[in-house]
Amino acid sequence: MCGIVGYIGEEQAAPFLLNGLSKLEYRGYDSAGVAVYDNELHVVKSKGRLSVLDGILQGGKALPGTVGIGHTRWATHGAPSDVNSHPQVSDGGKFAVVHNGIIENYLELKNHLIRRGVEFVSDTDTEVVAQLLEYYYRNDVLDAVQKVIRRVEGSYALGIICADCPEKIFAVRKDSPLIVGAGQGENFIASDIPAILSKTRDIYRLQDKEIAVLERDNIAFFNEEREPIEKQLERVEWDVDAAEKGGFEHFMMKEICEQPEALRKTISPRIKENKVVLDDISLTAEQLRDVSRVFIVACGTSYHVGVVAKYAFEKLLKIPLEVDVASEFRYRDPILDEHTLVIIISQSGETADTLAALRMAKKSGARVLSIVNVVGSTIANESDDVLYTWAGPEIAVASTKAYSTQLAVIYLIVLYMAQELGVLSDKERKEYLDDLQRLPDLAESCLADKEKIQYFASRYFNAGDMYFIGRNVDYAASLEASLKLKEISYIHSEAYTGGELKHGPISLIEDGTLVIAICTYDRLFDKMMSNVKEVKARGAVVLGITTHDREEAFRQEGDFRFCIPKITDFMLPSLSILPLQLFAYYCASMKGCDIDKPRNLAKSVTVE
Ligand code: F6R
Repeated sequence: MCGIVGYIGEEQAAPFLLNGLSKLEYRGYDSAGVAVYDNELHVVKSKGRLSVLDGILQGGKALPGTVGIGHTRWATHGAPSDVNSHPQVSDGGKFAVVHNGIIENYLELKNHLIRRGVEFVSDTDTEVVAQLLEYYYRNDVLDAVQKVIRRVEGSYALGIICADCPEKIFAVRKDSPLIVGAGQGENFIASDIPAILSKTRDIYRLQDKEIAVLERDNIAFFNEEREPIEKQLERVEWDVDAAEKGGFEHFMMKEICEQPEALRKTISPRIKENKVVLDDISLTAEQLRDVSRVFIVACGTSYHVGVVAKYAFEKLLKIPLEVDVASEFRYRDPILDEHTLVIIISQSGETADTLAALRMAKKSGARVLSIVNVVGSTIANESDDVLYTWAGPEIAVASTKAYSTQLAVIYLIVLYMAQELGVLSDKERKEYLDDLQRLPDLAESCLADKEKIQYFASRYFNAGDMYFIGRNVDYAASLEASLKLKEISYIHSEAYTGGELKHGPISLIEDGTLVIAICTYDRLFDKMMSNVKEVKARGAVVLGITTHDREEAFRQEGDFRFCIPKITDFMLPSLSILPLQLFAYYCASMKGCDIDKPRNLAKSVTVE
């Protein structure tokens, strides 16, 4: 979720670029940089806060020039560092490039260029774009841009300047936002509106593979075949605060809605020709065969991902898996040795208990694979292998898109291990992979029906207590749904397995108690219906989350229902959680809670 900004005009570019980047800080970043043309390309970049770059550039005064591009980077490929920051510059120094997104085939392209003598300095996928531009360049920048977008796969928003063509900025995008701002004698590019609102409210939205060429007094648009195209100018009426949240009232809702896109980014680069490709890890098939037990260790929402993982691992791989919260794991005596694989899950990569558990596991000789969102974080650095979730920065304290993408990485790991260990037929593997690839679209469909959940929340947001019940993977989803509700709406809630109710919790049910029954796991649907009957007989009101094909059957037992599409059993929590994230959000919103920063909670718990 990096930030891009670009300027061409009569004024000094650097002060505007710094200001524009400061308006994109909300997107999260770990380093920043600018490139400005003044007789030659000057690039200044630095790891850390924008204030560091601002200090080096003396507010922009130290870098004269009226054409430039700037960037705040959220690391995906390569740790946060000066050299990995953007702009990335081509070997011959002609092109400077800023980039948002992920170039999926960057390794293949990088190796191709290295074989042709190109020298790379960074670990980024972005550098491939800069190098490819120069490789294809024959005195025609637009032609080089066209060729590059034919070669690269993945998502990108690119801002490009070329030393041979310093009166122009080139911009192009695919699956990553980029806008062009139109001014008087000056024009702009940005990944989001707040960056340019101080200068203009007139914008063009680039569509996939459309190329913009900006000059001081002109903006031209081309399609990927280089044919000129007309674009509609749009007038922005939002204020800055709303614009930062993309028009959403809270980051949490923005992040809930970003989940389909985040899932695409996590899944799609890792499935090629019906196989899971995990380029980023070094675990060999032989090492996997040697694994006799697996632990998953994490806290909070990340721990709940582990609970889903247990069902998937044991069902497909028949390998025993234990899930533990890190604060317990680190103080017990788990049986760990060199045949143990410990999977650590953490959005921030800095959670103190999880880090301590990782260190303990490593000391015992176990192999540690981590699933982390923040690139270059301590947990990522200290693990034997890391799989990044590529969810982009999660700003709301309540985790949503991190949960979804962590689950997706778990599915990828399970299917990867199944493939390497040869435990699935080609047909079975294809079916699972097809479902995994459908997940982003299915998630989108589940999020389309927000009003239904909003209406339901409007009836129950004043409740004092709520109970979530489910069995198997539905129980795993219940744990997360209950946590989401209590942490942001402060409504007391608990999650129970359907079968445990009669061993105690059912005594809590009285007239009007709200029970949310997750009943998507088909094999135990009938058992769940018995549990629904039990609580209804004691006066409960029951909202069911079920699959479309079970709607009628549920309607006969419950009071309200929300249906999700059918998918492979162990992937169901990825869909069933979505209406319940929305439910928690709407309850908190109707109660007037501080949704993005709930009381007593911190985004990253770096103390024990
Ligand atoms: C809940 C939530 C927390 C975190 C937990 C672990 O919405 O965000 O429960 O999941 O503090 O944090 P990470 O994943 O950063 O280790």
